Amino acid sequence: MIFVTGGAGFIGANFVLNWLAQSDEAVLNYDKLTYAGNLNNLLSLRDDPRHLFVQGDICDTATLQSLFAQHRPRAIVHFAAESHVDRSIHGPAAFVTTNVNGTFSLLEAARAYWNTLEGEARTGFRFLHVSTDEVYGTLGPDDAPFSETTPYAPNSPYSASKAASDHLVRAYHHTYGLPVLTTNCSNNYGPYHFPEKLIPLIITNARAGKDLPVYGDGQQVRDWLFVTDHCAAIRRVLEAGRCGETYNVGGWNEQTNLSVVHAICDLLDELSPKASGSYRDQIRHITDRPGHDRRYAINARKIERELGWKPAETFATGLRQTVQWYLANDSWVSQVHSGDYMKWVDLQYSNKDAS
Ligand code: NAD
Ligand code: TYD
Repeated sequence: MIFVTGGAGFIGANFVLNWLAQSDEAVLNYDKLTYAGNLNNLLSLRDDPRHLFVQGDICDTATLQSLFAQHRPRAIVHFAAESHVDRSIHGPAAFVTTNVNGTFSLLEAARAYWNTLEGEARTGFRFLHVSTDEVYGTLGPDDAPFSETTPYAPNSPYSASKAASDHLVRAYHHTYGLPVLTTNCSNNYGPYHFPEKLIPLIITNARAGKDLPVYGDGQQVRDWLFVTDHCAAIRRVLEAGRCGETYNVGGWNEQTNLSVVHAICDLLDELSPKASGSYRDQIRHITDRPGHDRRYAINARKIERELGWKPAETFATGLRQTVQWYLANDSWVSQVHSGDYMKWVDLQYSNKDAS
């Protein structure tokens, strides 16, 4: 079996669903169920004996060790993290606790377990750490995209905590020989994306008749990758990646935030038109994010060359599927909106009108 951390979150849940759609190898899904973890993402696996869910914290080394001893996973795929930049600006402590200390605890438990393995179980074991392109910092308009050799220069508490976790993972390979793999991926989007992030926020606010908040001038650039393409990249790296290596994963799809918001409005105008006017009328520019990274872009040639991975979806096909998924899943959205989410919206978006 494989041991997945954070498998009730956005990417982790997509990964578990895709994994079990393509393989009969069981998954132990270990997740604390923070505000971002949602068992409704995994409803279709409710009666599936291949999926075992355990609620727990990656900071809890003892529990991790006993789960490893009991279930003897052949690999760990580590998604669990605090993942939202804006939340890391309001409250960085949780990011250091989970992303740095939690990854450390998980590495310690994995190292102790791996040291008990012998023969093929030991040589075949893998620890795959899922990370972000944000560790590389920000690019100017004419800079080359991030490659695996770009120096780390994280700018937010989120990206700094992920950078620290990447360094720990690297050191566990270099010092102890733990067979690790790291992926650094660009911005994901798709089903089950928590609506605090740009794309689901715009879709859900648009449908609710609310403002569509664009930070600053909206000319910041992100590379967007459909989540199932990211899941396929992770599966491929787990299968054939070289231990100790990092692989950048991206969609070859740089977009300004404003063009992303326009594209969502245009899809909604087509698929769920308003009685009058366009969803674009709801766009509002608001105060910019402090320390906002201007541009991310990924050079994903290494994973393509070495492992033959390329994205299957274009932005047009992926965004259409995403908007259609949100239109078809109102109950998922209302359940998420009924929790603490509205408190976050108040904290983040009140009194932010651009002057
Ligand atoms: P998410 O916030 O949607 O989900 C995170 C999951 O981790 C949740 O289910 C949460 O309950 C769980 N979790 C949080 N703290 C935990 C803890 N201490 N112990 C156990 N579980 C805990 O995040 P996501 O967008 O799915 O991102 C998953 C991973 O991918 C993260 O490591 C993130 O840094 C990385 N990543 C995300 C993106 C993106 O665009 N979302 C891009 C590149 C990399
Ligand atoms: P986000 O989805 O938070 O991802 P990240 O900060 O990790 O890239 O944001 C994507 C981009 O959209 C980022 O440049 C910030 C911007 N943004 C807005 O303009 N308005 C919003 O309400 C949010 C949440 C993000």
